[in-house]
Amino acid sequence: MKAGIIGIGRCLPDKVLTNADLEKMVDTSDEWIRTRTGIEERRIAEKGVNTSDLGFEAAKKAIEDAEISAEEIGLILVATVTPDQPFPSVACMLQEKLGAVNAAAMDISAACAGFMYGMITAKQFIESDSYKYVLVVGVEKLSKITDWQDRNTAVLFGDGAGAVVMGKVTEGRGILSFELGADGTGGKHLYQEDYIVMNGREVFKFAVRQMGESSVNVLEKAGLSKEDVDFLIPHQANIRIMEASRQRLELPEEKMSKTVDKYGNTSAASIPISLVEEVEAGKIKEDDLIVMVGFGGGLTWGAIAMRWGK
Ligand code: UT7
Repeated sequence: MKAGIIGIGRCLPDKVLTNADLEKMVDTSDEWIRTRTGIEERRIAEKGVNTSDLGFEAAKKAIEDAEISAEEIGLILVATVTPDQPFPSVACMLQEKLGAVNAAAMDISAACAGFMYGMITAKQFIESDSYKYVLVVGVEKLSKITDWQDRNTAVLFGDGAGAVVMGKVTEGRGILSFELGADGTGGKHLYQEDYIVMNGREVFKFAVRQMGESSVNVLEKAGLSKEDVDFLIPHQANIRIMEASRQRLELPEEKMSKTVDKYGNTSAASIPISLVEEVEAGKIKEDDLIVMVGFGGGLTWGAIAMRWGK
């Protein structure tokens, strides 16, 4: 039996920052942002709400949805580049807040590909029978490391959290194949000094190439073809990058998740947030084959082919 997802949850702050709001903050326009990125608005956490608060809400829902107790969780993995503080980890903070007293806990730093790294790490522990249940959270409060005077980056990012509980699932379901990768030579294109610094064009080129490659690779590894894919969940960075991945898999528009318009780029949180939205909207159904694929600063990337269902 393979590792799969048995519970899901997400948390988005209520406060909405629209493109019209951003027009008042930097030299930009709604038209530029929509056509270049596909973003219409994003959520911003209120002052006093930190990464661990968003992660906690998403995690609580995922545990409820999995119908397990927090004490049954053996490991908590939190993918984030915006922890409350360097240490203790957000994972340890969640362990306390959730009362997951039997769980080991650590954060994973792989930027926007972090949730893919988290899920694949969880899979190893579950399939080796080390832990029955692993909680994987992707959460960011990017608003605290965004330079609100830099139009190159201020328009792109948002805050939010998504979480899954993973455990063994029915034969034939779960993670069928994966790919993880990194290229440290590209670290200079996307990093944090005080704030996020990005060479947009370089990241764009890398993302279009890598998202397509990794999606095709995981299908090959699973012995499947493009026609088998029911749903694609790409990291929600930019609609043009996402569209390139969709076209590489020759999928119709309705088979790709699109939440970038409402939430912007929430880094490690974007894939789990999208997953929850699509499942709740009834677009992902039992036994559907889904491909999840992400890329990010590092540079990092990761993809998963998964048969949906407990
Ligand atoms: O999760 C990973 C995070 N990063 C990414 O996913 C970023 C990947 N890259 C991108 O999404 C795109 O490169 C951007 C959306 C960042 C930029 O789009 P682009 O089509 O690559 O634009 P560009 O960098 O070629 O810039 C075009 C012009 C520039 O003006 P000049 O130099 O040609 O006069 C920019 O200064 O657009 C200008 N520009 C803006 N104009 C209005 C850059 N940002 C803005 C803005 N509003 N917000």
